[in-house]
Amino acid sequence: MRPTKIISVVGARPQFVKLAPLQMELKKHLDSFVVHTGQHYDETLSDKFFEELSIPKPEYNLGVGSATHGAQTGLMLKKLEEVFDYEKPDLVLVYGDTNSTLAGALAAAKMNIRVGHIEAGLRSFVKSMPEEINRVLTDRLSDILFCPTGTAVDNLKNEGIDRGVYLVGDLMYEALEIFAPIAERRTDILRNLSLGSREYILLTIHRAENTDNHNRLRYLMEQITKLGHKIVFPVHPRAKKELKSAGLWEHLQNRDNIVLTEPVGYFENIVLIKNAYLVLTDSGGIQKEAYYFGIPTITLRNETEWPETVASGINRLLADRELLELIASEEHPNGLRSRGIEPKTSEKIINVFLNY
Ligand code: UD1
Repeated sequence: MRPTKIISVVGARPQFVKLAPLQMELKKHLDSFVVHTGQHYDETLSDKFFEELSIPKPEYNLGVGSATHGAQTGLMLKKLEEVFDYEKPDLVLVYGDTNSTLAGALAAAKMNIRVGHIEAGLRSFVKSMPEEINRVLTDRLSDILFCPTGTAVDNLKNEGIDRGVYLVGDLMYEALEIFAPIAERRTDILRNLSLGSREYILLTIHRAENTDNHNRLRYLMEQITKLGHKIVFPVHPRAKKELKSAGLWEHLQNRDNIVLTEPVGYFENIVLIKNAYLVLTDSGGIQKEAYYFGIPTITLRNETEWPETVASGINRLLADRELLELIASEEHPNGLRSRGIEPKTSEKIINVFLNY
């Protein structure tokens, strides 16, 4: 049966980016509104994204904030249940792989409300990643699974999930198409940081597997500080906390070639990626955005949920290789990677709902 009332549950930075193009379209066709769990609450990680992406203020903000995984997810479950009980949606839409995703899916499924999962079927096959646990469980609980890639569809098939699966493409690509031209007009980040195009490496790290394990964090920082290039490093609050407690922060601050900044908004991030000489990241979203812009990337992990980016040659995995050698052997393919990308993702998702 076609859903008439849809609630989108979001909470963390990359979910706001996926929500923006979809919510714009959803509003035109269905009764749909947004619940923000409050997982991200800093101005730079949350408010700024809503403002830049022109997303109306969420109807609910649950103010859950930071805590251990169990406490954070548990509080979200409790509060989401109250909202769902009051609002009686007939479908709850969750995005990606954060604790907000799992909480939204679990709260809804237990109340017999249908669940739709945006970015279903992605796998790293590493169970120690909190995101992998969130993905696998959310996909099991979902009735409608929107996959960004053919690999994601195959992953679900291998787990015996083939009903309600739709290949729709990537909302982050759609967001980039809509917002990149606006970002370039509105942002002075290159001028403010005195950066020339292709003159710097963009670095981001935030994954628990890289930040919370201090041996790994120290190893990464050793690799990075061996580079003579100019490096721009917007620091996620989790990374900053761990760099400080591992005794690495001051060392970074004293390096002339490393520019440390607060986390940047969506617009600045796009401009920084598009003009970078190379991107070093452990973020799934930034890997894809760099790929769409054709900017060479080294992913600071052993695996990726986006193997297409590696197959294209534009993205390489650091694993435990020497960063300096990897960079030296870098070829520089250029140009937009729009080949094989599914266009109009939000339209496809809405058509699934309208024909359900
Ligand atoms: C979360 C997601 C991750 C996603 C990332 C995007 C989970 C398990 N992880 O990671 O998949 O890629 O968001 O950024 O859901 N903090 C602040 N201010 C905030 C939010 C967090 O200072 O607004 C600090 C707190 O010290 C907190 C830590 O960052 O303990 C981690 O925050 P959390 O939301 O648990 O996970 P992220 O690392 O942001």
